[in-house]
Amino acid sequence: MFPASLRRLSLVAVAIGATGCSRVADVAYTLRADAEKLDLPAEHTERIADYLAMFHGTPTNPRMALPDPNAESPEASTADATLVPIARIDKPGYDRLTLQRGHEVYASQCAGCHGATGDGKGPAGAYLNPPPRDYRNGVFKFTSTPRGSKPRRDDLRRILKYGAKGTSMPAFRFLSEEDTEAVIDYVQVLSARGQLEIDLIREATDELDEGDDFDPETVADYVQSISDSWDRAESELVRPVTVNPPRTPETVRQGAVAFAELYCVKCHGPNARGSKSADVGQDIWGRTAYPANLAMGMLHGGRRPDDIYRRIYSGINGTPMPSSKDPNTAIGETPEQRSERIWHLVHFVTAVIENNGVPDDAQHAIDDALRVAAGGPSP
Ligand code: HEC
Ligand code: HEC
Repeated sequence: MFPASLRRLSLVAVAIGATGCSRVADVAYTLRADAEKLDLPAEHTERIADYLAMFHGTPTNPRMALPDPNAESPEASTADATLVPIARIDKPGYDRLTLQRGHEVYASQCAGCHGATGDGKGPAGAYLNPPPRDYRNGVFKFTSTPRGSKPRRDDLRRILKYGAKGTSMPAFRFLSEEDTEAVIDYVQVLSARGQLEIDLIREATDELDEGDDFDPETVADYVQSISDSWDRAESELVRPVTVNPPRTPETVRQGAVAFAELYCVKCHGPNARGSKSADVGQDIWGRTAYPANLAMGMLHGGRRPDDIYRRIYSGINGTPMPSSKDPNTAIGETPEQRSERIWHLVHFVTAVIENNGVPDDAQHAIDDALRVAAGGPSP
């Protein structure tokens, strides 16, 4: 069904010009199993490539396909064993021409950093810190949804419009609305494709012996559940259950107390400047995680009060920055208390940014709270 030439998994990346604006001519997607030298039987690797191409096409002919629920499920044991019997349809809303346009925008604007496959390994990627996001595990950091969920389209629009401050992720203000929407579709294709690949590699490693083939229904389930997780995110917007109160020195002070009494200081340090020595572990992309220096004001996920609220409420996917629902983080007993406290933390963080450091009053509040927690006298 897919000629061997299409399975050639090499990526031809040609970077033209030394100005940082590189064009990537991609002929095929790289396969994780090959790039990471996973020791899978060739027949499994080939089957994975077939399934990825079935559901997500090629760079110049991308698809967002789903298993067709109305199709008669074909016999798994067809005479021609090289056929992969899953009927599929284009996911509603993901039109092939738009995806082609998305690919063109991506190839000219994004692949130089994020790589043709979305692995974050474009020609420019190696020199960047933090590195461009590898989308292939389907994890996005700056979402307006609860921890563990996908981003909403609006989150992807925001990062394209404003970039991620303090990182090399640029703001693409000049992109037309059509190009923006098309490239968002295409990023979703790369992400869904990457996640399916991980699922199939895991399936092959854990469930299949040499000579076994994938069960088409299992593959269909993987595809469907990845698609469902994207759809679900659209209705999962985190809405604060209390309104943002007016910011006063008192709410900033309360935020400072919360910063000390909760878990924030452990990672961000008593002066909120982050701590290079706090060993907080790695992110899921395998890099040492550094708690943000809040005094620098480079909030990657946006600086509007709602953005900061959601960051504290949900944490940051793929990193040790926890969600306020983490069982270890007793942030408040009722949802209202929790929400109020998060707003105070937002006021504190905003004050730290504006002041390029913790304001004196707030610093006293933090120091007092830490002294009390350590068993010292209350102020
Ligand atoms: C100059 C390099 C560069 C270019 C060009 C670039 N990015 Fe990024 N991008 C980054 C970096 C670096 C990050 C990671 C930021 C971080 O970890 O905080 C990132 C992160 C992202 C994220 C992840 C946001 C999240 O919540 O996790 C998305 C989505 C994204 N980029 C999309 C794009 C798209 C689409 C394009 C092209 C229109 C593009 N980027 C072009 C460097 C780049
Ligand atoms: C276990 C360690 C840990 C704890 C506890 C923690 N953080 Fe973080 N925080 C991090 C790390 C790591 C990052 C950087 C993540 C990244 O961008 O890769 C971060 C980033 C942030 C950011 C920057 C968000 C952005 O948009 O770039 C804010 C704001 C923040 N933390 C606030 C808090 C607050 C408030 C608390 C307490 C309620 C807290 N953190 C608790 C580790 C932690």
